[in-house]
Amino acid sequence: MTDAPYAELLGLAREAARRAGELLRDGRPADLAVARTKSSPIDVVTEMDIAAEKLITDLISARRPDDGFLGEEGADTPGSSGVRWVIDPLDGTVNYLYGLPTWSVSVAAELDGETVVGVVAAPMRGETYHAVRGGGARATGAWEGERALACRTAPPLEQALVSTGFNYVTDVRAHQAGVAARLIPLLRDVRRGGSAAIDLCDVACGRLDGYYERGLNPWDFAAGDLIAREAGALTGGRPGEPLSRELTVAAPPGVFEPLQRLLEDFGAWHD
Ligand code: IPD
Ligand code: CA
Ligand code: CA
Repeated sequence: MTDAPYAELLGLAREAARRAGELLRDGRPADLAVARTKSSPIDVVTEMDIAAEKLITDLISARRPDDGFLGEEGADTPGSSGVRWVIDPLDGTVNYLYGLPTWSVSVAAELDGETVVGVVAAPMRGETYHAVRGGGARATGAWEGERALACRTAPPLEQALVSTGFNYVTDVRAHQAGVAARLIPLLRDVRRGGSAAIDLCDVACGRLDGYYERGLNPWDFAAGDLIAREAGALTGGRPGEPLSRELTVAAPPGVFEPLQRLLEDFGAWHD
């Protein structure tokens, strides 16, 4: 595929993320309730997660009927074009449920299994981040035009501001809390934003020095991983491994390596 099809995929990803973001921002019912739960009683789905995924898959399949989908709320079709869309229609559902602003729409396009386009819309920030493989990462927001994204120059680890997240399954959360307790004295501070996709984009924007989490799914990291890498960050899992459900680490060179080593020493990936 040449640049032009990537441009088509990027345009479609941006349109889908923008429209789903508008639906979520403008259509949030005042009495928004939990529709069902998934991996645990605190892993919730609202009617808006489902509506946003339907909007995105309907829009894309109307334009590109042969593409496949993997979406958090159930979309799972292989397609026949070589392109598969990996979608988290609402990343940060708990924040959204409580009326907190840190939530996003994450749309990535894979070509033959490799992510080539990533878009993360953060409607309550008025910002959208996007990247094309090999083309850098950019953002639109409350400024004129597009801004190129670049991760921060690495500080010494003890001055690094690092974000993380906690799984919905109690045993995993307890283990993650133990790892965080060991890390906190070795860092500037730790954040828990509540949207993995925004955490990855905040590394790309230079708003965080690093991010790690165990237990993410492909829809959580597909778009944000590409955006972070295209902004100069390193991403991965355990040392020498690609990022995966086991472990996701993203940080500028200089923070990435010592952070990844500590996470390995602390057993951050454990099942
Ligand atoms: C969650 C968020 C959260 C992360 C969880 C994810 P969801 O996604 O990204 O920050 O800590 O691991 O599951 O459920 O809001 O789409
Ligand atoms: Ca998610
Ligand atoms: Ca979600």
